[in-house]
Amino acid sequence: MKKIILTGDRPTGRLHVGHYAGSLKQRVVMQDSGEFDEIYIMIADAQALTDNADNPQKIRENILNVALDYLSIGIDPAKSTVFIQSMVPQLTELTFYYMNLVTVARLSRNPTVKAEIQQRKFEASIPAGFFTYPISQAADITAFGATHVPVGEDQRPMLEQCREIVTKFNAVYGDTLVMPHIVLEANEKAQRLPGIDGKAKMSKSLGNCIYLSDSSEEVKRKVMSMYTDPGHIHINDPGKVEGNTVFTYLDVFATQQHFEKYLPEYENIDRLKAHYACGGLGDVKIKRFLYSVMEDVLQPIRERRKYYENNLPLVMEILKTGSEKAERKAALTLHKVRNSMKINYFDENYLL
Ligand code: TRP
Repeated sequence: MKKIILTGDRPTGRLHVGHYAGSLKQRVVMQDSGEFDEIYIMIADAQALTDNADNPQKIRENILNVALDYLSIGIDPAKSTVFIQSMVPQLTELTFYYMNLVTVARLSRNPTVKAEIQQRKFEASIPAGFFTYPISQAADITAFGATHVPVGEDQRPMLEQCREIVTKFNAVYGDTLVMPHIVLEANEKAQRLPGIDGKAKMSKSLGNCIYLSDSSEEVKRKVMSMYTDPGHIHINDPGKVEGNTVFTYLDVFATQQHFEKYLPEYENIDRLKAHYACGGLGDVKIKRFLYSVMEDVLQPIRERRKYYENNLPLVMEILKTGSEKAERKAALTLHKVRNSMKINYFDENYLL
Protein backbone atom coordinates (compact mmCIF):
# COMPACT_ATOMS: atom_id res chain seq x y z
CA MET A 1 0.00 0.00 0.00
CA LYS A 2 1.15 3.51 -0.76
CA LYS A 3 2.34 5.71 2.09
CA ILE A 4 0.65 9.07 1.83
CA ILE A 5 0.86 12.14 4.07
CA LEU A 6 -1.86 14.77 4.41
CA THR A 7 -1.68 17.56 6.93
CA GLY A 8 -2.38 21.26 7.15
CA ASP A 9 -2.94 24.42 9.14
CA ARG A 10 -5.58 27.12 9.33
CA PRO A 11 -4.38 30.39 7.88
CA THR A 12 -5.43 32.59 10.80
CA GLY A 13 -1.96 33.94 11.57
CA ARG A 14 1.74 33.37 11.18
CA LEU A 15 3.12 30.07 12.43
CA HIS A 16 5.29 30.08 15.56
CA VAL A 17 7.99 27.97 17.18
CA GLY A 18 5.29 26.02 19.05
CA HIS A 19 3.95 24.82 15.68
CA TYR A 20 7.51 24.13 14.60
CA ALA A 21 8.43 22.00 17.61
CA GLY A 22 5.03 20.30 17.76
CA SER A 23 4.67 19.25 14.15
CA LEU A 24 6.28 21.32 11.37
CA LYS A 25 9.82 20.09 11.99
CA GLN A 26 8.65 16.50 11.90
CA ARG A 27 6.92 17.05 8.57
CA VAL A 28 10.18 18.13 7.02
CA VAL A 29 11.95 15.07 8.45
CA MET A 30 9.22 12.84 7.02
CA GLN A 31 9.38 14.64 3.69
CA ASP A 32 13.13 14.22 3.45
CA SER A 33 13.10 10.59 4.59
CA GLY A 34 12.06 9.52 1.10
CA GLU A 35 9.72 6.96 2.67
CA PHE A 36 6.50 8.50 1.42
CA ASP A 37 4.94 8.15 -2.00
CA GLU A 38 2.86 11.34 -1.88
CA ILE A 39 2.81 14.31 0.47
CA TYR A 40 0.03 16.90 0.65
CA ILE A 41 0.23 20.00 2.82
CA MET A 42 -2.96 22.00 2.93
CA ILE A 43 -3.66 25.60 3.85
CA ALA A 44 -7.07 25.10 5.48
CA ASP A 45 -8.77 28.36 4.52
CA ALA A 46 -12.28 26.85 4.36
CA GLN A 47 -11.87 25.53 7.88
CA ALA A 48 -10.52 28.89 9.03
CA LEU A 49 -13.65 30.54 7.64
CA THR A 50 -15.89 28.40 9.87
CA ASP A 51 -15.20 30.78 12.74
CA ASN A 52 -14.06 33.81 10.74
CA ALA A 53 -16.96 34.13 8.33
CA ASP A 54 -17.07 37.90 8.81
CA ASN A 55 -13.36 38.38 8.24
CA PRO A 56 -12.35 36.76 4.95
CA GLN A 57 -9.66 39.41 4.46
CA LYS A 58 -7.74 38.06 7.45
CA ILE A 59 -7.80 34.54 6.02
CA ARG A 60 -6.79 35.79 2.59
CA GLU A 61 -3.76 37.64 3.95
CA ASN A 62 -2.61 34.70 5.99
CA ILE A 63 -2.61 32.27 3.09
CA LEU A 64 0.62 33.79 1.87
CA ASN A 65 2.01 33.99 5.42
CA VAL A 66 1.46 30.28 6.00
CA ALA A 67 2.77 29.38 2.54
CA LEU A 68 5.94 31.35 3.30
CA ASP A 69 6.21 29.66 6.70
CA TYR A 70 5.98 26.23 5.04
CA LEU A 71 8.55 26.98 2.38
CA SER A 72 10.91 28.63 4.81
CA ILE A 73 11.04 25.66 7.20
CA GLY A 74 12.06 23.45 4.30
CA ILE A 75 8.85 22.12 2.78
CA ASP A 76 10.10 21.43 -0.72
CA PRO A 77 7.57 21.86 -3.53
CA ALA A 78 9.46 19.25 -5.54
CA LYS A 79 8.61 16.67 -2.88
CA SER A 80 5.42 18.00 -1.26
CA THR A 81 2.22 19.31 -2.82
CA VAL A 82 1.23 22.53 -1.07
CA PHE A 83 -2.35 23.58 -1.80
CA ILE A 84 -5.30 25.72 -0.72
CA GLN A 85 -8.30 23.85 0.70
CA SER A 86 -11.07 25.90 -0.93
CA MET A 87 -9.50 25.39 -4.36
CA VAL A 88 -10.43 21.70 -4.09
CA PRO A 89 -14.25 21.70 -4.19
CA GLN A 90 -14.41 17.88 -3.99
CA LEU A 91 -13.64 18.25 -0.29
CA THR A 92 -16.94 20.02 0.27
CA GLU A 93 -18.93 17.36 -1.53
CA LEU A 94 -17.28 14.58 0.47
CA THR A 95 -18.06 16.48 3.67
CA PHE A 96 -21.74 16.59 2.75
CA TYR A 97 -21.91 12.81 2.30
CA TYR A 98 -19.91 12.09 5.47
CA MET A 99 -22.29 14.27 7.48
CA ASN A 100 -24.86 11.50 7.19
CA LEU A 101 -22.57 9.14 9.06
CA VAL A 102 -21.98 11.28 12.15
CA THR A 103 -24.45 12.16 14.89
CA VAL A 104 -24.84 15.58 16.46
CA ALA A 105 -24.24 13.91 19.84
CA ARG A 106 -20.87 12.58 18.64
CA LEU A 107 -19.86 16.00 17.35
CA SER A 108 -20.77 17.60 20.69
CA ARG A 109 -18.33 15.30 22.45
CA ASN A 110 -15.26 16.31 20.43
CA PRO A 111 -12.96 17.74 23.15
CA THR A 112 -11.02 20.08 20.86
CA VAL A 113 -14.19 21.57 19.40
CA LYS A 114 -15.65 21.88 22.91
CA ALA A 115 -12.60 23.81 24.11
CA GLU A 116 -12.67 26.04 21.04
CA ILE A 117 -16.35 26.81 21.52
CA GLN A 118 -15.56 27.96 25.06
CA GLN A 119 -12.54 30.01 24.02
CA ARG A 120 -14.56 31.78 21.37
CA LYS A 121 -17.50 32.32 23.75
CA PHE A 122 -19.89 30.98 21.10
CA GLU A 123 -22.36 29.67 23.69
CA ALA A 124 -25.64 29.16 21.82
CA SER A 125 -24.48 30.85 18.63
CA ILE A 126 -22.10 28.21 17.30
CA PRO A 127 -21.95 28.38 13.51
CA ALA A 128 -23.07 25.02 12.09
CA GLY A 129 -20.01 25.06 9.85
CA PHE A 130 -17.72 25.34 12.84
CA PHE A 131 -19.53 22.62 14.76
CA THR A 132 -19.12 20.23 11.85
CA TYR A 133 -15.55 21.04 10.87
CA PRO A 134 -14.25 17.68 12.18
CA ILE A 135 -16.30 16.09 9.39
CA SER A 136 -14.73 18.33 6.79
CA GLN A 137 -11.35 17.43 8.25
CA ALA A 138 -12.18 13.76 7.66
CA ALA A 139 -12.89 14.69 4.05
CA ASP A 140 -9.49 16.40 3.80
CA ILE A 141 -7.70 13.33 5.08
CA THR A 142 -9.60 10.66 3.16
CA ALA A 143 -9.72 12.56 -0.15
CA PHE A 144 -5.99 12.02 -0.44
CA GLY A 145 -5.99 8.46 0.84
CA ALA A 146 -3.72 9.62 3.63
CA THR A 147 -2.13 6.87 5.69
CA HIS A 148 -0.11 9.28 7.86
CA VAL A 149 -1.30 12.55 9.38
CA PRO A 150 1.45 14.44 11.24
CA VAL A 151 -0.23 16.99 13.52
CA GLY A 152 -0.04 18.60 16.92
CA GLU A 153 -1.56 16.60 19.77
CA ASP A 154 -4.63 18.89 19.94
CA GLN A 155 -5.67 17.25 16.66
CA ARG A 156 -5.99 13.76 18.16
CA PRO A 157 -9.81 13.98 18.52
CA MET A 158 -10.07 14.95 14.83
CA LEU A 159 -8.15 11.87 13.82
CA GLU A 160 -10.31 9.68 16.03
CA GLN A 161 -13.43 11.09 14.47
CA CYS A 162 -12.01 10.63 11.00
CA ARG A 163 -11.19 7.00 11.73
CA GLU A 164 -14.76 6.43 12.90
CA ILE A 165 -16.08 7.91 9.67
CA VAL A 166 -13.79 5.66 7.62
CA THR A 167 -14.97 2.58 9.53
CA LYS A 168 -18.60 3.56 9.15
CA PHE A 169 -18.32 4.45 5.47
CA ASN A 170 -16.56 1.21 4.61
CA ALA A 171 -19.08 -0.81 6.63
CA VAL A 172 -22.10 0.83 4.99
CA TYR A 173 -20.87 1.25 1.41
CA GLY A 174 -18.07 -1.31 1.08
CA ASP A 175 -14.33 -0.95 1.41
CA THR A 176 -13.50 2.41 -0.13
CA LEU A 177 -11.64 4.78 2.20
CA VAL A 178 -8.10 4.40 3.55
CA MET A 179 -7.64 4.29 7.34
CA PRO A 180 -5.34 7.12 8.47
CA HIS A 181 -2.91 7.13 11.41
CA ILE A 182 -1.91 10.10 13.50
CA VAL A 183 1.80 10.87 13.73
CA LEU A 184 2.74 12.79 16.86
CA GLU A 185 6.02 14.37 17.84
CA ALA A 186 7.72 11.94 20.25
CA ASN A 187 9.08 14.58 22.64
CA GLU A 188 6.17 15.44 24.93
CA LYS A 189 7.60 18.81 25.88
CA ALA A 190 7.72 19.71 22.20
CA GLN A 191 4.06 18.78 21.80
CA ARG A 192 2.92 21.60 24.05
CA LEU A 193 5.47 24.33 24.06
CA PRO A 194 4.48 27.04 26.55
CA GLY A 195 4.39 30.70 25.57
CA ILE A 196 7.17 33.06 26.65
CA ASP A 197 4.99 34.05 29.63
CA GLY A 198 5.05 30.44 30.85
CA LYS A 199 1.33 30.03 30.14
CA ALA A 200 0.11 26.60 29.16
CA LYS A 201 0.38 27.01 25.44
CA MET A 202 1.86 29.36 22.90
CA SER A 203 -1.05 31.05 21.22
CA LYS A 204 -1.64 34.06 19.12
CA SER A 205 -4.52 35.30 21.25
CA LEU A 206 -2.33 35.33 24.38
CA GLY A 207 0.39 37.34 22.60
CA ASN A 208 3.08 35.01 23.95
CA CYS A 209 4.52 33.61 20.70
CA ILE A 210 7.89 33.57 19.05
CA TYR A 211 7.05 33.55 15.35
CA LEU A 212 9.10 31.76 12.73
CA SER A 213 9.20 35.09 10.90
CA ASP A 214 10.38 37.17 13.89
CA SER A 215 13.56 39.17 13.36
CA SER A 216 16.65 38.41 15.38
CA GLU A 217 15.97 41.50 17.54
CA GLU A 218 12.40 40.37 18.25
CA VAL A 219 13.58 36.91 19.24
CA LYS A 220 16.18 38.43 21.54
CA ARG A 221 13.66 40.71 23.21
CA LYS A 222 11.21 37.84 23.70
CA VAL A 223 13.77 35.39 25.05
CA MET A 224 15.23 37.98 27.45
CA SER A 225 11.72 38.68 28.80
CA MET A 226 10.84 35.01 29.26
CA TYR A 227 9.17 33.69 32.39
CA THR A 228 11.63 31.81 34.61
CA ASP A 229 11.36 31.22 38.35
CA PRO A 230 9.89 34.25 40.13
CA GLY A 231 11.57 33.08 43.37
CA HIS A 232 15.02 33.19 41.77
CA ILE A 233 15.89 36.80 42.56
CA HIS A 234 19.61 36.83 43.28
CA ILE A 235 22.09 34.77 41.31
CA ASN A 236 22.96 32.78 44.40
CA ASP A 237 19.35 31.84 45.17
CA PRO A 238 18.51 28.26 44.30
CA GLY A 239 16.31 28.24 41.16
CA LYS A 240 13.43 26.07 40.00
CA VAL A 241 13.90 24.19 36.76
CA GLU A 242 10.42 22.63 36.56
CA GLY A 243 8.00 25.08 35.00
CA ASN A 244 10.86 27.39 34.08
CA THR A 245 10.15 28.32 30.47
CA VAL A 246 13.79 28.81 29.54
CA PHE A 247 14.61 25.25 30.56
CA THR A 248 11.52 23.88 28.83
CA TYR A 249 12.71 25.51 25.60
CA LEU A 250 16.26 24.28 26.12
CA ASP A 251 14.89 20.75 26.61
CA VAL A 252 13.15 21.04 23.26
CA PHE A 253 15.68 22.93 21.16
CA ALA A 254 19.21 22.65 22.64
CA THR A 255 21.45 19.90 21.27
CA GLN A 256 24.81 18.60 22.40
CA GLN A 257 26.44 20.69 19.67
CA HIS A 258 24.86 23.83 21.10
CA PHE A 259 26.52 23.12 24.44
CA GLU A 260 29.87 22.54 22.79
CA LYS A 261 29.52 25.73 20.77
CA TYR A 262 28.11 28.16 23.35
CA LEU A 263 28.49 26.71 26.85
CA PRO A 264 31.43 24.30 26.82
CA GLU A 265 31.80 24.67 30.59
CA TYR A 266 28.61 22.58 30.95
CA GLU A 267 28.66 19.05 29.65
CA ASN A 268 24.93 18.90 29.02
CA ILE A 269 21.48 20.15 30.03
CA ASP A 270 21.50 18.14 33.27
CA ARG A 271 24.67 19.89 34.45
CA LEU A 272 23.18 23.27 33.61
CA LYS A 273 19.96 22.43 35.47
CA ALA A 274 21.87 21.17 38.48
CA HIS A 275 23.85 24.39 38.74
CA TYR A 276 20.70 26.51 38.43
CA ALA A 277 18.90 24.43 41.06
CA CYS A 278 21.62 24.81 43.67
CA GLY A 279 22.15 28.52 43.02
CA GLY A 280 24.91 30.56 41.41
CA LEU A 281 23.62 30.62 37.85
CA GLY A 282 21.82 33.74 36.65
CA ASP A 283 18.81 34.03 34.36
CA VAL A 284 20.68 36.27 31.94
CA LYS A 285 23.21 33.57 31.21
CA ILE A 286 20.64 30.86 30.47
CA LYS A 287 18.58 33.30 28.40
CA ARG A 288 21.60 34.32 26.33
CA PHE A 289 22.29 30.65 25.69
CA LEU A 290 18.68 30.02 24.66
CA TYR A 291 18.81 33.03 22.36
CA SER A 292 21.87 31.58 20.59
CA VAL A 293 20.13 28.22 20.27
CA MET A 294 16.94 29.78 18.86
CA GLU A 295 18.96 31.82 16.41
CA ASP A 296 20.66 28.65 15.14
CA VAL A 297 17.19 27.19 14.56
CA LEU A 298 15.63 30.31 13.07
CA GLN A 299 18.42 31.80 10.96
CA PRO A 300 18.22 29.23 8.11
CA ILE A 301 14.42 29.55 8.19
CA ARG A 302 14.74 33.34 7.85
CA GLU A 303 17.08 33.02 4.92
CA ARG A 304 14.80 30.72 2.95
CA ARG A 305 11.92 33.04 3.77
CA LYS A 306 13.81 36.02 2.34
CA TYR A 307 14.34 34.11 -0.88
CA TYR A 308 10.63 33.32 -1.29
CA GLU A 309 9.54 36.81 -0.18
CA ASN A 310 11.59 38.17 -3.02
CA ASN A 311 9.92 35.68 -5.38
CA LEU A 312 6.23 35.93 -4.51
CA PRO A 313 5.03 35.05 -8.05
CA LEU A 314 6.91 31.76 -7.60
CA VAL A 315 5.03 31.14 -4.34
CA MET A 316 1.72 31.79 -6.10
CA GLU A 317 2.73 29.38 -8.84
CA ILE A 318 3.58 26.69 -6.24
CA LEU A 319 0.13 27.12 -4.65
CA LYS A 320 -1.65 27.09 -7.98
CA THR A 321 0.11 24.01 -9.36
CA GLY A 322 -0.28 22.31 -6.00
CA SER A 323 -4.01 23.04 -5.85
CA GLU A 324 -4.51 21.66 -9.36
CA LYS A 325 -2.66 18.50 -8.49
CA ALA A 326 -4.61 18.13 -5.24
CA GLU A 327 -7.88 18.56 -7.10
CA ARG A 328 -7.01 15.76 -9.52
CA LYS A 329 -6.29 13.43 -6.63
CA ALA A 330 -9.45 14.37 -4.70
CA ALA A 331 -11.54 13.87 -7.84
CA LEU A 332 -10.36 10.26 -8.08
CA THR A 333 -11.47 9.60 -4.49
CA LEU A 334 -14.79 11.35 -5.01
CA HIS A 335 -15.41 9.15 -8.04
CA LYS A 336 -14.81 6.03 -5.93
CA VAL A 337 -17.04 7.37 -3.17
CA ARG A 338 -19.88 8.05 -5.60
CA ASN A 339 -19.54 4.55 -7.01
CA SER A 340 -19.65 2.98 -3.56
CA MET A 341 -22.65 5.09 -2.60
CA LYS A 342 -24.38 4.18 -5.87
CA ILE A 343 -24.85 7.79 -6.83
CA ASN A 344 -22.95 7.35 -10.09
CA TYR A 345 -26.18 7.41 -12.12
CA PHE A 346 -24.72 8.13 -15.50
CA ASP A 347 -21.76 5.75 -15.37
CA GLU A 348 -22.32 2.65 -17.52
CA ASN A 349 -26.06 3.38 -17.82
CA TYR A 350 -26.34 2.49 -14.15
CA LEU A 351 -30.03 3.41 -13.79
CA LEU A 352 -31.11 1.15 -16.65
N1 TRP B 1 -7.42 21.60 12.15
C1 TRP B 1 -6.11 21.87 11.65
C2 TRP B 1 -5.58 23.11 12.39
O1 TRP B 1 -6.26 23.84 12.96
C3 TRP B 1 -6.06 22.17 10.18
C4 TRP B 1 -6.54 21.02 9.32
C5 TRP B 1 -7.62 21.04 8.48
C6 TRP B 1 -5.96 19.74 9.19
N2 TRP B 1 -7.76 19.86 7.84
C7 TRP B 1 -6.77 19.04 8.25
C8 TRP B 1 -4.88 19.09 9.77
C9 TRP B 1 -6.50 17.71 7.92
C10 TRP B 1 -4.60 17.77 9.42
C11 TRP B 1 -5.42 17.08 8.51
O2 TRP B 1 -4.45 23.43 12.40
